[in-house]
Parts: sequence; C-alpha cells; structure tokens
Amino acid sequence: MRLSLVTLLALVSAPTALAGSSCIAFDTAWNLLAFGFNGKDYNAGTSNTWASGSATDITTNGRPPFNGNDVKCYLAEFFNAIYIIGADTSKPADIYIYDAGAKTWSTQSVTAGDFDPTSFQAILDHDTNVFYALSKGNLFSLEMNELKAAKSGSIAWAPQGKAEITTDNYDPVMAVAQNHVFFFGVPGTPAGSTPIFVIHFAFWQAGAQPMGGNFPDSHGQATSIFLDVGVQQEIAFIPDDGSKTYIVNVETNTTQTMSGPATVDAKARYFASPTAIVQLASSGAVSWIPYKAGDNSANSGAKWSAVSNLAAVAPSSGGGSAPSGSAPSQSSKTAGSGGSAAPSGSKTAGGSGPSGSASGAIRHAGWGAGSVLGLVAVAFFLL
Ligand SMILES: *[C@@H]1O[C@H](CO)[C@@H](O)[C@H](O)[C@H]1NC(C)=O
Repeated sequence: MRLSLVTLLALVSAPTALAGSSCIAFDTAWNLLAFGFNGKDYNAGTSNTWASGSATDITTNGRPPFNGNDVKCYLAEFFNAIYIIGADTSKPADIYIYDAGAKTWSTQSVTAGDFDPTSFQAILDHDTNVFYALSKGNLFSLEMNELKAAKSGSIAWAPQGKAEITTDNYDPVMAVAQNHVFFFGVPGTPAGSTPIFVIHFAFWQAGAQPMGGNFPDSHGQATSIFLDVGVQQEIAFIPDDGSKTYIVNVETNTTQTMSGPATVDAKARYFASPTAIVQLASSGAVSWIPYKAGDNSANSGAKWSAVSNLAAVAPSSGGGSAPSGSAPSQSSKTAGSGGSAAPSGSKTAGGSGPSGSASGAIRHAGWGAGSVLGLVAVAFFLL
C-alpha cells in the first residue's frame, strides 16, 4: 500500500502519547468510557453504537492530567463510579473519582503507608467496595466505602500481610469473581489453575484451584466480566502472547476459549461488560469481542473488531486529524504488511526497520525521534 504524504505527515506529527496514560472502563449502563485520550475523555456509548460515528466528549473540570504510564480504572458498580489510580504523577497515591451518573470529578486523598502506588495490581471487590492490592509481595486493602465523590480527609491503605503465593519475580495478574481474588501466572502453578485469596474470610486457599482449562502459567492481563446484577462470576484472562482469550468461570471452575485479540500487545489493558470484552492497546487503538455468558459456541466463533467511534480520538491518532486508517496499530494480525508505513508490527513482534522500531517506540514512550526520522525517510522514498 502506498500512503500519501499527508498520511505520513499526520503520522510524523502525532503527539507523544505515552503508552498506559489512558484507560477504559464501563459505567453501569455499559457505556464504554475512555479516559485520557489526547487530553480528553469520551463516552463511546454501548456496543451497538461502536461501529461508526464518533464518541461523545465528556471532558470536564477536575479530571486528572493522565500523565502516568500505568493508569488503572475500576468500576464501583453499586455507585456508578470509576476510581482511577496512577493518572497524576504529582499525587501517585490519590484516587480520582469520576461519578459517571453526575459526570463530575473529585480527588480522594489517600495515605499510602507501606503501599507503593507506583508498583501494584489491584481488584475492587464488588460487594464491599474494598480494594485489594498486591504490591511487592504484600497484600493491602483500601476501603472505598460508598464513595462516588471524595470525602474530606484521607483514607488509608491497610497492610494485610505477606501474600501466601510465590511473589519472587511475579508481576501480579489478578481479577475478582465471587468475592475471591484469582491470581494468574504465579510462578510454579500448574497450567489451568489459580491460587485464590478469599476476601470475606481473609485467607489464602491452600494450593491452586484447577479451573478446567489449560491457560498457560504466564504473565497476561485479567479482567472480571461484570454482570447487570450481582457479583462477577467469570474472568477473562489474556496471556501476553495473545494466543487466546480464556474465560474462567469460578462457579463451575471451567474454562472456555475465545479468539485471542487481533492486536497482540502485552501492555494492552482490558475491561469487560456483561456482553463485551474490550481491549485498549498501548497504541491507543480500542477493539472488542462480543461475549455471551453460557453460549460457548457463539463465543468460540466470535471475532474482535475495532471500536470505530473511538478511533478518531485515540491517544496516538494526532488529535483526530490523522485518517483513522493510518492510526498506528501495532502487532495487528490483520494489518497490511510490507509497504504499509503505519507502524504495524508482526504477530511475533520485534520487526526491524521503520515499522518495527516505530511500533516499539509507541509501546514504550510515544514517538521517538529516531522513528520520526525513519518515517520521514520512508516518506521521501515512497514519493
Ligand atoms: C470451585 O472452586 C472453589 C474454590 O476452590 C470451590 O470453593 C468450589 O467448591 C468449586 N466449585 C466446584 C463446582 O467445583
């Protein structure tokens, strides 16, 4: 494919969108919210509206600067509130709260204590609205009470002791379902099994629970599949190799498989409504796969596709000025190969030349000068 100079210039002038400085979450009406997209926040609506048009700009006062590199968003379903951690490097412990009903922001002051807000993974327990976090081998909790706006004074992370799983060289991967925390990729765990922390009784189950599947004991991303009513019962786990999307049901302890995401990206983040699993790639591209609880045959045939109404505003798309087709997509299985100047990596990643290096640059720190020069060189070569 031969790209126009306009397209190439649009790519070259794309801003430095830091991977991980954005996040996605659903509100309780299952509108997909996208935060920190080129300095703005958007409501992409429900999944039936994602295929075309553009998302609604919901940017308003009191939002965080979204300058972190690992922004995490959580839905407090009882309160229709989104809790955001890591979106303001000047206040790493504080939690920004977006009241999705009132469409207002506030900032909750948080005392970190021994908890490291720059190095953790956490879940928000559905029923108690308490965070449980694993940070540097220790478990911590933080009570969010009924907050949909910050209260005066600070709330504090409380230590809950040393994790009773192997945490040496463990980059935590965790999700909540049935008020239990499930840990994926814990070193030395048999494939298809997960160690469990039982929240309401505050204990670590001995050994790992077999989940009736063969998902690898590897790093990946895990996200709970919300339900309209009640506690989550299933978790989507996507290993870093993107080979499959595993759906782990913690009621039956069974696992079904769905297609791996179209964009293989170990730094992607996921969020799931009752009927959609959504990926935010580190390039800023958003895609999704429909999900239907209990319908294994529909799920196994389901395909990933773009959330098109966010494509024009995605973090690396140059403020919506770049043609949507040219937004840097990385590691897309379906991306054009060869002559495409859009930095699409291959499924195996680590390609050479302008495309591979630009993709890597986006993944870690936006557009490096080297890749921009590379693209300019490609532009002149093509012309
Ligand atoms: C599933 O695993 C949980 C956690 O170990 C256990 O409490 C439950 O009894 C298991 N359910 C079935 C149906 O095996």
